[in-house]
Amino acid sequence: MPSRLTRRRTLLTAAGASALAAAAYGSAHTSSRTAQSPRRPAGFPDGFRWGTATSAYQVEGGAHEDGRGPSIWDTFTREPGRIRDGSTGDVSVDHYHRYREDVALMKSLGAHTYRFSIAWPRVFPEGKGKANPGGLDFYDRLVDELLAAGIEPYATLYHWDLPQALQDRGGWESRDTAQAFGDYAAYVAGRLTDRVRQVFTINEMQTFVEQGHETGNFAPGLKLPPGRLNQVRHHAVLAHGLAVQAVRASGRRGTRVGPAENIATAVPAVETAENIKAAERATRELNAPYLTVMMEGRYTDAYLAKAGRDAPRFTDAELKIISSKVDFVGLNVYAPSQYVLASEAAPGFTPVPFPASHPHMASSWLLLGPEVLYWAPRNAARLWPVKDIFITENGASAADEPTPDGTVHDVDRVMYLRNCLMHLQRATAEAVPVRGYFLWSLLDNFEWADGYATRFGLVHVDYATQRRTPKLSAEFYREVISRNALA
Ligand code: FCB
Repeated sequence: MPSRLTRRRTLLTAAGASALAAAAYGSAHTSSRTAQSPRRPAGFPDGFRWGTATSAYQVEGGAHEDGRGPSIWDTFTREPGRIRDGSTGDVSVDHYHRYREDVALMKSLGAHTYRFSIAWPRVFPEGKGKANPGGLDFYDRLVDELLAAGIEPYATLYHWDLPQALQDRGGWESRDTAQAFGDYAAYVAGRLTDRVRQVFTINEMQTFVEQGHETGNFAPGLKLPPGRLNQVRHHAVLAHGLAVQAVRASGRRGTRVGPAENIATAVPAVETAENIKAAERATRELNAPYLTVMMEGRYTDAYLAKAGRDAPRFTDAELKIISSKVDFVGLNVYAPSQYVLASEAAPGFTPVPFPASHPHMASSWLLLGPEVLYWAPRNAARLWPVKDIFITENGASAADEPTPDGTVHDVDRVMYLRNCLMHLQRATAEAVPVRGYFLWSLLDNFEWADGYATRFGLVHVDYATQRRTPKLSAEFYREVISRNALA
């Protein structure tokens, strides 16, 4: 123990120290600009792509329109006690009808990109079989509107709204669901990739698997025992791999595809060479049934040993599919999963528990730890051969009390984002290959089990009138985008 203490003290790496200095005072990369204007903050690389993100069930509404079938979230929100304010996504912020206004809002931010999701039950109301002929019409209109505004569409194929019909046949416990997802991916790729050139397969497997099938907090609200839960995990990564192959086979050539996963990130509690290694090791194990198997094509020994008789059933052929080559990795990054210190005993790291006083934003899970914006992509790039990384989500919930004239002075969200971006800038300054950032979210929206009680938008929505009012954070983000630097 004492040796660890002394070693810890030496520890900010040279690269880390110079990048921190760069973040605070302007990097070499912007030195000519900094020379003229000494207080100008450091920049992001040229061509960095800035955008916002949403998902179908959270913003669209139009739940019963144009042949959409029910999803597990339609069912779940109707079960008493599931959603904090008893609400549903039936209407939400009515993006289905107000997308033109919403695209104009994106344009006013100067955003380059928009990440939205496609509702599987709009396209296949029964989950598989016969496609709904008008099921992609809304996305056709949305994509055309985006392109006309000069905003590049990035589509996510699955953001948790499983067709209820598939749940009735076993949902993610059934291998057929993974197959049905591959077929749906092929259909969408065949229809949209003339204009949508960037596709994400599944949003946050880790969240929908564990919140939906272990804690039961999210749809479909199950609490499965470990063996069945591991099989769900396996079917989720298999579905991802099948979708990658489907997009390659049915999409226009050159369509780029990858996951959008909430990488569980271990952060070195004190930045020493030993603790940095420990954080890498911990990150690899924390993601064993998700990103790690997707990137490495095998389950880690520690994962299989720990699962024992509850390990998933799988074949080598499935591992090949799961690890199909991706063009980029999307990382949803909010809070560190744990801080770690090195340990001489296996597995080589010790988690440091979050103390009761650890600060957080309006959502209790959103523990402050802005340095995760550095460590998540940095650990991923260190562990796996990833050439292009996108931060597919990052953002904050806040109290967001409008003043009498309807404006929201969300300085806490601005502070939060500024800190996150400072650490992201450290990553790009150290050549971690982060190519773009999608802020969650454009608009306040249906925040799953929290309903409308929790707000994540840059734009405030008055849910009674659907009036949209940009918050102070929207102005902040517009500045960041226009400078390509902290603001
Ligand atoms: C992520 C989800 C997204 C949103 C944000 C706040 O985990 O992907 O839909 O709920 O959290």
